[in-house]
Amino acid sequence: MLKSRNDAQALLAWGEAQNPGKWAAHSRTVARAAETIANAAGLDGERAYISGLLHDIGRYEGATGLHHVYAGYSLLRREGFDDIAAICLSHSLPNREFAEGSGEADFTPEELKAVIDYLKNTEYNDYDKLIQLCDALGTDGGIVLMEKRLVDVTRRYGFSSYTLPKWNKLFEIKQYFDGLISGNVYGLFGDEIGRVTFED
Ligand SMILES: [Fe+2]
Repeated sequence: MLKSRNDAQALLAWGEAQNPGKWAAHSRTVARAAETIANAAGLDGERAYISGLLHDIGRYEGATGLHHVYAGYSLLRREGFDDIAAICLSHSLPNREFAEGSGEADFTPEELKAVIDYLKNTEYNDYDKLIQLCDALGTDGGIVLMEKRLVDVTRRYGFSSYTLPKWNKLFEIKQYFDGLISGNVYGLFGDEIGRVTFED
């Protein structure tokens, strides 16, 4: 059974204490965005919130590259969050390619094999897509226009041959959720997006 939002908040607070950083505030923004969109789309807001809150929990282990996705996946399985553990793997890989993740693919060979097996054997569900989208909307300061966040991440990590397909996939996912809510996802957040996007 899915653990509660209190359990998820406690685990994030623990992770933040291990490795303080902007990633925890980013995670809280992603959780809030995911819950709001899920409720508007007829999905389970609680599940969306918990998935958003813990998608980057692997960052507890400190400065790593893409390894945090695997670290989060195994931590969540150890801590009883089995239902959503795979969100840690899927959130960075919208095109299901392990090499598209931002940062170095610093997996052990066994971890890499587990990630590749997961990508081969799993179809993404609406929650995977939702967290991919919200990861591209949420900063530590709030919810922004997706273009802003994508450029920001690319300035930090650089371009690769995966960058453009990843951007295109994320725009496609946004359109998918626009369709589910019969409107524009941005409209769910009042003036926040305009405000935070132009803040810095
Ligand atoms: Fe994230």
